[in-house]
Amino acid sequence: MKTKQPLLTDAFGRAHQYLRISLTERCNLRCSYCMPLEGVQLAPKSHLMTHEEIFTIAKTFVENGVTKIRLTGGEPLIRKDFDRILNQLATLPVALSLTTNGVNVDQYIPLLKKVGMTSINISLDTLKAQRFKEITHRDYFDRVYKNMQLLLEAGLKVKVNVVLMQGVNDDEILDFIRLTEKLPYTIRFIEFMPFDGNRWHLEKMVASEKIMETITSHYGEDRVVKLKDAPNDTSKNHQIKGAAGRFALITTVTNPFCDSCNRIRLTANGHIKNCLFSQTENDLLSLLRSGKSIEPIIRKAVLGKLAVRGGMDDLEKLKNPDLHRNNRSMITIGG
Ligand code: 5AD
Ligand code: SF4
Repeated sequence: MKTKQPLLTDAFGRAHQYLRISLTERCNLRCSYCMPLEGVQLAPKSHLMTHEEIFTIAKTFVENGVTKIRLTGGEPLIRKDFDRILNQLATLPVALSLTTNGVNVDQYIPLLKKVGMTSINISLDTLKAQRFKEITHRDYFDRVYKNMQLLLEAGLKVKVNVVLMQGVNDDEILDFIRLTEKLPYTIRFIEFMPFDGNRWHLEKMVASEKIMETITSHYGEDRVVKLKDAPNDTSKNHQIKGAAGRFALITTVTNPFCDSCNRIRLTANGHIKNCLFSQTENDLLSLLRSGKSIEPIIRKAVLGKLAVRGGMDDLEKLKNPDLHRNNRSMITIGG
């Protein structure tokens, strides 16, 4: 007898154990590569998941094999009921983590510790206050930098997401690496990716290979050590010999890691996105609100997942803006 395919296993045999939930489409920063300058059409509040709905949906995913949940945004910490959401999710047998821009994270440190979070991702693209203001259109560099230190002091691991862009912050690669020599941060250089409205072009992206070259030509090959990566890690981890911290490269554009993908996303308005680059979504929230079982729509979303980058399996396709128009802008996906 044929055994039933597990709910979260896709057509390519990938089991999805990692759920990323976007809590809001709003943000207190305005990073140009994430949010289109002309703004985005936000879903009306009544279309956003309530804390009860988030819990119900998360529970179904956990019962079907999810072992890790990351909360994202927009900026997740601007949600007024963040405490409540986190406390409820903490009752599930699942590892919790958070991606934040760090502006308000100091207020939540006791809560993050209480629910057993061990590692936080902070988005920070520059170590220069003036440049921070240019990139994010807000003057919060000192606050974010101080909050990162507070997180370390509280015993949390801090991973710093850096999106490098040609002519914007690509001159700071070594400054970030120097920071890892002294402090136990993991700096993660993420290749700039195309999303609706973010004016992406290939020349703006800094390829991981180029980042590596900059680092090895400064430190010398033998001082740059490759570390072992976890099975579903999207990042290739490295360290400067003797450094307190590490650095990693996330090569979504130049070398996608889709065959080991175990992630699935839920947008703030309760749609399942089976891939960061998917052009289709499945409206789980409407089904939940109609009182029906949500498992069939989860199955449909999982089985509809394409092999590589939502169908953009080569660079030519990734470069074609027509293939992004049906996707969201990053602020409404949540990274
Ligand atoms: N390319 C790569 N990374 C991006 N992020 C936001 N927009 C992009 C993009 N276009 C990152 C943010 C954040 C994470 C959730 O996604 O820096 O750290
Ligand atoms: Fe906000 Fe992060 Fe987008 Fe910047 S990248 S606007 S911090 S959600």
